[in-house]
Amino acid sequence: MTAVKDILVQKIQESGPMNVAEYMETCLYHNEHGYYMSQTPFGTEGDFVTAPEISQIFGEMLGAWVADTWIKLGRPQSWQLLEAGPGNGTLMKDMLRTLKYALPECYEGAAITLLEISPMLKIKQRDNLLDHHICWANSLDDVNFDLPTIVVGNELLDAFPVRQFTKVADQQYREKLITYKDGQLQWHNSENTTNLPFNSEIVETSDAMESFLCKLKDKLTNGVALFIDYGDHATGDSLQAIEKHQKVDIFHKPGLSDLTAHVNFDNVRRVLGADRTSFAEPMGQFLNSIGLPMRAAALLERAEPSQKAEIEQATYRLMHPEQMGQTFKAIAYRTDNSYDVAGLYFESQPKSHAA
Ligand SMILES: C[S@@+](CC[C@H](N)C(=O)[O-])C[C@H]1O[C@@H](n2cnc3c(N)ncnc32)[C@H](O)[C@@H]1O
Repeated sequence: MTAVKDILVQKIQESGPMNVAEYMETCLYHNEHGYYMSQTPFGTEGDFVTAPEISQIFGEMLGAWVADTWIKLGRPQSWQLLEAGPGNGTLMKDMLRTLKYALPECYEGAAITLLEISPMLKIKQRDNLLDHHICWANSLDDVNFDLPTIVVGNELLDAFPVRQFTKVADQQYREKLITYKDGQLQWHNSENTTNLPFNSEIVETSDAMESFLCKLKDKLTNGVALFIDYGDHATGDSLQAIEKHQKVDIFHKPGLSDLTAHVNFDNVRRVLGADRTSFAEPMGQFLNSIGLPMRAAALLERAEPSQKAEIEQATYRLMHPEQMGQTFKAIAYRTDNSYDVAGLYFESQPKSHAA
C-alpha cells in the first residue's frame, strides 16, 4: 500500500467510485504524497526522460525560436518569458544561455516567470537557475500579462488529468470510474450514460487542460505560446503509467509512478481557436525547420570523439519519426495574425506560402 493508495481508498469508501481525473489528480498532485510533489520524475535515475533532459541542443533550439519570436513581436524592450511546467529547469537554463549569448538585448529585457505547481520542483529549478533573476507563479491567475509574453510548455499538457468514457451506443457513453473491491482498485462503469459527440470506443477528455488553455487565451493579450507534447489528432485510450522507463498498470503503486495521457491536438486548436492556432507539426519537422540539424553539425565539427556519438544519438532521438520525431508535436498560439511563427503554419498562412 502506498500513502496515495490509502488516501484513494479512504476517498472511495467515503464518497463512492471516483472518475479518472480525480484519480490522476490525487496520484500526481496530492499536496504531500502526489508524484510531482514527492518524487524525482526526470532523467535516467527517474521514471522518464524529457526532450530537454536528452540534450542541451533541444533547449538551445527553443532559445533560438524564442529569440526569433521576440524579433517578430517587434523587439519589445521589456517582455516576459513564461515557462509552464518547467520540471528541473533544464529547458529554461538552456534557453537563457542561448538568449544571453545570441541576443543580449533580448535577454536583458526579459522578465522570467516559471509557472510550477510543485514546491519540490521549484527548489530544483531555483538551484538550476541561480545565475538568473526568476519569479515563480503557482497558477495562471498569479501571472501578470501586462508585458508582451512568450510562453513555452514542454510536456505540460500531457500532465493534466483526463476523464475516460466507454461507448455503449452511438454517441452514448458510460464514464470509467475507479472503485475499491476485494482489497484492490478496480474499474467500474458509471450507471448513467452521457451523450458525447464522438465515435471511438474510448473517449478521453481533459477539463483541466481546457480550462488552462481558456484562461491562457483570455489573459495573453500580446504574445505567442508554444506547446510541445506527445499526442495526435484523435481521442482514444492513451492513459498510461510509467515507472523506471517502463509502462506499468495504472493501479501499480499510485503516487509512485507517473500518469499521463496523449494530447488531442484537435482539441487544443478548438479551445484556443483555429484562426489563431497553428497546425500541430511533428516535433522532428519543427526542429528541422528551426535548424536543429545545422546546430548539431556545428557541434559535431568541434566535438571530441567521445562527444560525437552523444550528439548523434540525441539528434536521432529528438528527430527520428520512430523515436520522438513523429509522436511528439509542436503547436503555437499567437494573439496577432500579422507575423509568422518559425517552424509552424497557420490557416491564414499555409505551409507552401510560409517564410
Ligand atoms: C512532465 S513534466 C515536464 C517537465 C519539463 N517541462 C520537461 O520537459 O522536462 C510536467 C511539469 O509540469 C508541472 N505541472 C503539472 N501541472 C501543472 C499545473 N497545473 N500548473 C503548473 N505546473 C504544472 C509539473 O510539476 C512538472 O514540472
